[in-house]
Amino acid sequence: MCGIVGYIGPKKALPILISSLERLEYRGYDSSGIACISEKGDRGVYTIKEQGKLGRLKSKLNGALLDGHVGIGHTRWATHGEPSERNAHPHQDCSKKFALVHNGIIENYAELKHELQRKGHHFRSETDTEVAVHLIEEYFERCRNVFEAFQKAVIRMQGFFAFVLTTSHDPDAIYVFKRSNPLVIGVGNGENFVASDAPAILSYTNRMIYLDDNEMARVTADRTEVFRLGEKNPRRKPVVRIKWNMRQAEKDGFPHFMLKEIHEQPQVVDTILKERLRGNRIFFDSISKKTEKRLSRISKIHLVSCGTAYHAGLVGKYMLSECARLPVDASVSSEFRYEDPVVDERDLVIFITQSGETADTLAALRAAKEKKAFTLAIVNVVGSTIAREADCVIYTHAGPEIGVASTKAYLAQLTVLALFALYLGKLRGKLSSGQMREYINWLLKLPRQIEETLRQDKAVKQCARKLYTKRNFLYLGRGYNFPNALEGALKLKEITYAHAHGYAAGEMKHGPIALIDSEQPVICISPAAKTYEKMISNIQEIEARKGIVVSVATVGDQTIKKLSRFLFLIPETKEMLSSILAVIPLQLFAYYVAVFNKRDVDQPRNLAKSVTVE
Ligand code: AGP
Ligand code: GLU
Repeated sequence: MCGIVGYIGPKKALPILISSLERLEYRGYDSSGIACISEKGDRGVYTIKEQGKLGRLKSKLNGALLDGHVGIGHTRWATHGEPSERNAHPHQDCSKKFALVHNGIIENYAELKHELQRKGHHFRSETDTEVAVHLIEEYFERCRNVFEAFQKAVIRMQGFFAFVLTTSHDPDAIYVFKRSNPLVIGVGNGENFVASDAPAILSYTNRMIYLDDNEMARVTADRTEVFRLGEKNPRRKPVVRIKWNMRQAEKDGFPHFMLKEIHEQPQVVDTILKERLRGNRIFFDSISKKTEKRLSRISKIHLVSCGTAYHAGLVGKYMLSECARLPVDASVSSEFRYEDPVVDERDLVIFITQSGETADTLAALRAAKEKKAFTLAIVNVVGSTIAREADCVIYTHAGPEIGVASTKAYLAQLTVLALFALYLGKLRGKLSSGQMREYINWLLKLPRQIEETLRQDKAVKQCARKLYTKRNFLYLGRGYNFPNALEGALKLKEITYAHAHGYAAGEMKHGPIALIDSEQPVICISPAAKTYEKMISNIQEIEARKGIVVSVATVGDQTIKKLSRFLFLIPETKEMLSSILAVIPLQLFAYYVAVFNKRDVDQPRNLAKSVTVE
C-alpha cells in the first residue's frame, strides 16, 4: 500500500526522501510526490508530483529547486480518484501553506468536502485526502496554531489513516498522526525521520519510535513530542532498536527479491527451529506461565488471516487438529470480522500476518478481543500494530520480505504453526514424548530438505519454459496440500496475471473436470500421504482426458512419474510437514512463468505488499 516518508535535519531533504521512497517501492504504488519547505524567503511549501513509477518523478525533479532541509514524500496506491498527477500526494490547502500525505481512507470525506466547499474551499483533486488538508487550513484560520488545527481536523475525520504534514506556518517541524495505519519515527542524531515502514529509513537509523493509534507527534530536528489525541501533555515513548540490517533488504546478486527470498527459506526455517527447540521441548519466550494455563483450557481455535497467510491458516487447521485434538476453524479476516463470530473467552483466535498491518486482520483482531477471546498473533514484522495489540505474539523472524508475492514468510508461518501445534498437543496431553520426538526429528531434517527441494529449480524452469504461454492453470491437492493448491494458484495469478484456480482434488469431479482437455495444465500436489491413492485416481482422470499433468511427488515415486508430463520431487517427510516442502516447486514455477512472460515479478500490477485498506 502507499508509502510515506519524511525528513527534518541539517541535510538536504530531497535525496533522503527519494532514497527512502525507493526502499518502499516494493509495496506497490501508482504515483508519487514530494513536498519540501524552502530555505529562502517565505519558507514556502513546494511540491512536485508525477503519475507512475518513481523514475518519472526523479526526471521531473531534475533542475527543480527543492533545496530544503524539511520535507515529506509519498507513493500512492489509489483508493479515491484515478492514479494521476493531480490526485498524487502531497495535497495542499487553498493558501498552499500546508502539504499533507496520507495512507488510508477518510470515510466521511464526501460530507466534509461539501461542508468545506460551502465555506469556499477550492478542491483540486478527487481524493479523500484533500479534505484533510483543507480542514486543517479551516481550523488554522480560526486558532492560528498548527498543532491545535491538526488535532481538531483529525477529530472530525472517520476512518483509518496515517498523516504526515508540513507547513510554512511552522517550517521547522513535521506533524504526524496515526490511526490504524502504520507510522514510525526514526530517531537520528540532530535529525529525525518519519516512515510508514521502518525499512524505508533503516539505512539512516535503526532507532524507532512506534506510534500507537490516536497518537500525534510534533517532530523537529532534535526532538519528538508524542501526544495522545485530546491530551495536552506529551507522553514517554520507548525507542526500539531494530535488528534487521539493510543487506537483508537487498537483492544479494539475485535478479529479483522473490527468488532471493525463495532461496533464503532453508535459513529461515533453520533459524526458527534453533530458536524454538531445546532438545524435545518447544519453547516460546512470549508464552508466560499464565498464558500457558489459559491455553491449556481453551475449547476451540480459530485461525484468521488473508491471502497467503490464510493458506497458512488452513494448513494450521490440519496441524492443530492432528496434534491438539480440538475443533479448529480457519477463516479469511474480512469474513470473520463481519460474520459476528461465535467466539468467547474459552476460544483461542490466532492471527497470522507477515506485515502485522493488514487492515482486515487488524479489524478481526479487535473484534475477537471485544468478545474476550484469547488472541495470539503470528507475525513477521517486529513492532507492527497486530504484534502490539494481540494478547500474545510469536514472531516468525523471517527477515524483511520485499517481494510482493509472499514466499519465505509463508514457510516461516507453516514452521511456527507446526511447532505451536506440537506445543499445544503436548500441553493438552494429546501427544506422548515418543510422538513428539518423532515429529521433532522430521522437523530437524527440514532445512536440508528445503535445500534439496530447491535443486528442482532446473526442472521447474524447463517446465515453465514449455507452459508459460498458457492462460489457465488448475492446481489440485488434498489434506495438507489442499491449501498448497490454493497457494500455488495464488502465486501464479499474482505475478503472471494468468488465471489459476486451486481446488480440493476430491471436488474435481464435481465441476472443474469440465475444464480438462489437451490444453489444460493441472498441477497435482501428491506427496506420500493418507490420500495418496485418491490423488492417483485424480491424476488418472486427468490423463484419460489428455490434460497436461504436472506433479509434485515424493522422491522415488515411480507411479506418478509414469503418469506425469512434468515432475518435481520433494524428499520424504512426515505428512504434516509435507506442505512445507511441496510449496517450494510451486513458488519457483510461478516465478519462472512470470520471468518468461517478462512480468514485474517483485512489484506486480495492482498489488501492494501490505494491504492497509479494507
Ligand atoms: C501474498 O503473496 C500476498 N501478496 C497477499 O495475499 C498477502 O499474503 C496478504 O495480503 C496478507 O498479508 P499479511 O501476511 O501481511 O497480513
Ligand atoms: N485514499 C488516499 C488516496 O486515494 C490515500 C491512498 C493511499 O493510501 O495511498 O489518495
